[in-house]
Amino acid sequence: MLDQGKRDLVSIEDLGTAEILELFHHADEFRANLRAWSDLCRGAIMATLFFEPSTRTRLSFESAMLRLGGGVITAADEKNTSRSKGESLADTVRVVGGSYADILVVRHPEDGAARVAARYARVPVINGGDGAHEHPTQTLCDLYTLWKEKGRLEGLEVVLCGDLRYSRTIHSFCYALARFGANIVTMPYPGFELPDYVLHRLRRDFGVQAAAASVGDLPGIAGSSNAAAYLTASKPHQLALFTNLTNVEVNRIDAIYMTRAQRERHTGEDTTNYPRLSRSTLGAAAAKDARIMHPLPRVDEIDYDIDDDPRSVYFRQAELGVPMRMALMAFLLGKIQLRASPPAALAVTPGIAAGAGLRCPNERCITNNEGVRYLTRDFRLREAEAPPVLSCAYCEREVEARFVGHTQQRVVHRYNSPEARHIKSPQRVYFESEAQALAAGFECRDG
Ligand code: CP
Repeated sequence: MLDQGKRDLVSIEDLGTAEILELFHHADEFRANLRAWSDLCRGAIMATLFFEPSTRTRLSFESAMLRLGGGVITAADEKNTSRSKGESLADTVRVVGGSYADILVVRHPEDGAARVAARYARVPVINGGDGAHEHPTQTLCDLYTLWKEKGRLEGLEVVLCGDLRYSRTIHSFCYALARFGANIVTMPYPGFELPDYVLHRLRRDFGVQAAAASVGDLPGIAGSSNAAAYLTASKPHQLALFTNLTNVEVNRIDAIYMTRAQRERHTGEDTTNYPRLSRSTLGAAAAKDARIMHPLPRVDEIDYDIDDDPRSVYFRQAELGVPMRMALMAFLLGKIQLRASPPAALAVTPGIAAGAGLRCPNERCITNNEGVRYLTRDFRLREAEAPPVLSCAYCEREVEARFVGHTQQRVVHRYNSPEARHIKSPQRVYFESEAQALAAGFECRDG
């Protein structure tokens, strides 16, 4: 099932930092004359499997493949595919990836679906957005735009505003910003803060420290939230300026990244006072050289009358999506080579098959929906002690495992007991609670 020879893009972490910079340079070459590349991928076929609506992602991928000289097949409406008869994503990608298509772009409403597609397809899979999890190619477009506008990414001050909880675009973008050494100011609409698992990953992978932020003069967004936070990474670069983060005053903003309320994922939340960018926001001193960004579609969180301001680059982000996606597909299809090595994380082996143990706590995870029929739950150990923390290998949500069992002896112990420490993989299985272990047929031997 796992094809180790192919490269997928499920998370932005599937590309190395140097690889991303090389892809920017290739995108520049493609962009210089979009019509000059119609032999590069001649004969290749891309399938777009979009089980959620899209304008930019699907059409820019299709345009990119046509400009590379390849062909396109598409399933843009779930109702017209055999998914409406109950076919699983795993079976769909097994059929389409191969003789039908050489590369797949998948959009799906369930968190973790792209990882499932990548595991089952024999050809490269690109995540076109999986639930509220990630949207890595939007991040490539966003980084590429910012890099072209500002000439660098390291040290930039980037404000993320709006629905940071459900925006998959924001999640991929903040991992990448931290990796490139940009500083992040979060200005969520109250109740829509970055999820804990995203913050934990930022802390674990990039040493991100958080502090209260004050971005005093940003009318329109500052007024909507008094919970601004400043996130700065201590690796790979060191910012000597912020060794003792307490309350950070942000006086220069390089980009304000606005997002719409992701209403399709809400469960009745009130968004009446959702923030809105207007001329008065752009009039703030701190925003003098800021770029206004948005992944689009816009609903009403950016006034139309700032579209002509030279600082508004959201349509440019969408335009740059074509050369950026040309570069990505040419790379994944082996038509261009990168000098940079793939990220070390790609060498990580598949995680811990939870078997009778853990269940992902995210009700929108594919493992708790269509995947119940065929997926083995799979977790990665993130923190080994106090108590062990594992994250779902599909959607990354975390669980604390307070009990450790032995798969053959069918006994379970508290994580910090000597008996638990002696249970080694592959006999080691994790549980959140004693009740979960008992329900799975394990006996608890701790008093
Ligand atoms: N930015 C983005 O993903 O747009 P679409 O939903 O139109 O693809």
